[in-house]
Amino acid sequence: HNTLKPFPADFLWGAATSAYQVEGAWDEDGKGPSVIDARQHYPEGTTDFKVASDHYHRYKEDIALFAELGLKCYRFSVAWTRIIPDGDGEINPAGIDFYHQMIDELRAKNIEPLVTLYHFDLPQALMEKGGWANRNTLNAFVRYANVLFEAFGDKVRYWLTINEQNMMILHGNALGTQDPNLENPVKNLYQQNHNMLVAQAQVMQNLHRRHPQAKIGPAPNIALIYPLSCRPEDITAAFNYNAIRNWAYLDAAVWGRYNTTFWRYLEEKDALPHIEEGDMEILAAGRPDFIAFNYYTTQTVEASRNDGTDSVARSKTDQHLRSGEEGVHRGAKNPHLARNAFNWEVDPVGFRNTLRAIYDRYNLPLIVTENGIGAFDKLENGTVNDDYRVDYIKAHLKQMQLAITDGVEVFGYTPWSAIDVISTHQGCSKRYGLIWVNRDEFDLKDLKRIPKASAKWYTNVIKNNGID
Ligand code: BG6
Repeated sequence: HNTLKPFPADFLWGAATSAYQVEGAWDEDGKGPSVIDARQHYPEGTTDFKVASDHYHRYKEDIALFAELGLKCYRFSVAWTRIIPDGDGEINPAGIDFYHQMIDELRAKNIEPLVTLYHFDLPQALMEKGGWANRNTLNAFVRYANVLFEAFGDKVRYWLTINEQNMMILHGNALGTQDPNLENPVKNLYQQNHNMLVAQAQVMQNLHRRHPQAKIGPAPNIALIYPLSCRPEDITAAFNYNAIRNWAYLDAAVWGRYNTTFWRYLEEKDALPHIEEGDMEILAAGRPDFIAFNYYTTQTVEASRNDGTDSVARSKTDQHLRSGEEGVHRGAKNPHLARNAFNWEVDPVGFRNTLRAIYDRYNLPLIVTENGIGAFDKLENGTVNDDYRVDYIKAHLKQMQLAITDGVEVFGYTPWSAIDVISTHQGCSKRYGLIWVNRDEFDLKDLKRIPKASAKWYTNVIKNNGID
């Protein structure tokens, strides 16, 4: 391109967090336990989520800092167990109050709230009854969402349904959704998937009925899949994994139907879900207003070797590296990409490619609800010089602007994370925040907030609407 299109004037420059990773106060004011709180084991040397970044008690101070940074939007999730402690029973007014106060605080500072209904923290009471594989959880989720729409529907314009449903299914062992004791854990996972899809569609429809001015969309993790080479068999493998990892989730959310390749894959794995009467109608009737997605990197695959060595890297730690499955595709390293401190491939151009691929396929406005780099940041002389984070975000913003110039409609960007949070399974030393939280894995110190170099840089980006 000779000239770049500018970012839209009302672009939602923001940043993101999720409830269990930032709030703490895990058992306060009537909150019930979630699957996160019930977790017994943590990787060695990593903290639990009981205090996290103590945002529950410090949200005012944090929002004041977000305002100083110039954020126009804050993506956060509601903890289901604050609102309905056991998932499907009594409503806890203190939980509703807390989010009222938070949303009011954001509005007072002109920060648009972007609310995720559910981000990995299923109520433990529902988990004990079979989790998402139990139809009851679907109904409980629809009811929970209605409670939120009722309470906050007039104050919240943008909603996200389920964070990274595809990761919960593909990496069920790392995110606690896979029960290894079952005879066919994979079939169970895809039943959970089906129930989540139906729940999501119902929730989108309900919001539209009650609050026609509000907007809602799904928030999967989308990583465009590259073939390792132009060998035709590698292209087939990339088709396979794109369908299974990415399009299956968005096709269902947008078009209300199962992706053909994905369906055949489930059939061959003996993992077809049970579909109740009326489910496909609910799926078809749920329409997102936009697509939100989280982007960290692309993935590369080659043809399966069918020799029992394809199934590498099936954990979340490796999700951004390689992920293979016998007879379907084989995970490969992309020789053209650099890696971060946690060995995740970094692919800014892949961001443009991914934006293009999603927009070409669905033609819906896009918002990027996560993007960022985990690193062992250091506080030195009162500051954090995270120039690698500046480099990462800058490179991605450049590619996003190229995508916008290509014609892709993007209306917001909320990098991960607004403030340091606890990583899903690698503790608090793996930091993503624009703002430092002064604590270690096991020493809570003073939990002081200190904007990092990246925060100061991002403030300027926002001020200039992306013109650097
Ligand atoms: C996404 C999640 O998977 O990536 C976040 O939505 C998570 O909750 C983020 O924190 C980074 O992953 P991790 O495992 O490094 O924390």
